[in-house]
Amino acid sequence: MKQLIAGLGAALAAVASAAPADNYERATAATPKVYLAGDSTMARGGGGAQTQGWGEYLAYSLQGITVVNDAIAGRSARSYSDESRFTSMADVVTTGDYVIVEFGHNDGGSLSVDNGRSDCVGSGSETCTTAAGLVVQTYVTYLTNAAKAIIANGANVIISSPTPDNTCESGTCTYSPSRYTGYCKIVVQNAGAKASFVDHGQYVANEFAKLGADVVNGYYPIDHTHTSPTGANVVAAQFVKGVLCANDSFATHVKNTTASIDGKCL
Ligand SMILES: *[C@@H]1O[C@H](CO)[C@@H](O)[C@H](O)[C@H]1NC(C)=O
Ligand SMILES: *[C@@H]1O[C@H](CO)[C@@H](O)[C@H](O)[C@H]1NC(C)=O
Repeated sequence: MKQLIAGLGAALAAVASAAPADNYERATAATPKVYLAGDSTMARGGGGAQTQGWGEYLAYSLQGITVVNDAIAGRSARSYSDESRFTSMADVVTTGDYVIVEFGHNDGGSLSVDNGRSDCVGSGSETCTTAAGLVVQTYVTYLTNAAKAIIANGANVIISSPTPDNTCESGTCTYSPSRYTGYCKIVVQNAGAKASFVDHGQYVANEFAKLGADVVNGYYPIDHTHTSPTGANVVAAQFVKGVLCANDSFATHVKNTTASIDGKCL
């Protein structure tokens, strides 16, 4: 492929030597990218030894697009924003790129002892002020701002509900969505047509219920949040299933068929 492109470039240069220098670059435009913004459940290295984030397995199901896994352990919608990570992402995206945003595991908790991650509770533009006088926004505000900035620079955004903690921990598999699932839907409404929603949490929960407690408990080697590499691969597959079932525009980059991935559409 590289040789072919190099050969084509040389041929073009020979034919149209008077063409402006940047034509060559446009003719070999970069492959689009899909950037991942999330926490340890998505990040390279997961939550430590024996675990892995699902973002590391996404590339196996895609074609014609490069995965850039920018998920980082310990981050929330708030801390990812405060560290300017969404701003940096918005600066580098271009038309045809995608950003998958999945937060929730570090967004809860009380602001009375501020850990720098917890959001203000609310589905709109509520704010909270910490004891130190810091104004904290809601999950919805942080992700709406991020999605709008990324979309303004030409990319599409997929807002994904968080993966559940081990739904089979008790020996029986049960799931009820956290408030972040509803918040994600509001973010998508706020951000407009280039934003879409994948109910990743529900897809994973359904698949875990099908696999059963013995299998699923084996996916959680250190705690009830972080998956083994095998578990991460299952979690990634359910994201891909969600994309295909929604017939999201990102589905054009998926190489697998809907039927080939275990589980049912919601
Ligand atoms: C899609 O197919 C590839 C092989 O081409 C495989 O590695 C990957 O795991 C499949 N993805 C899913 C979600 O089944
Ligand atoms: C998916 O969307 C494309 C257009 O983006 C459309 O052509 C196709 O028929 C849709 N497929 C299904 C199964 O809805």
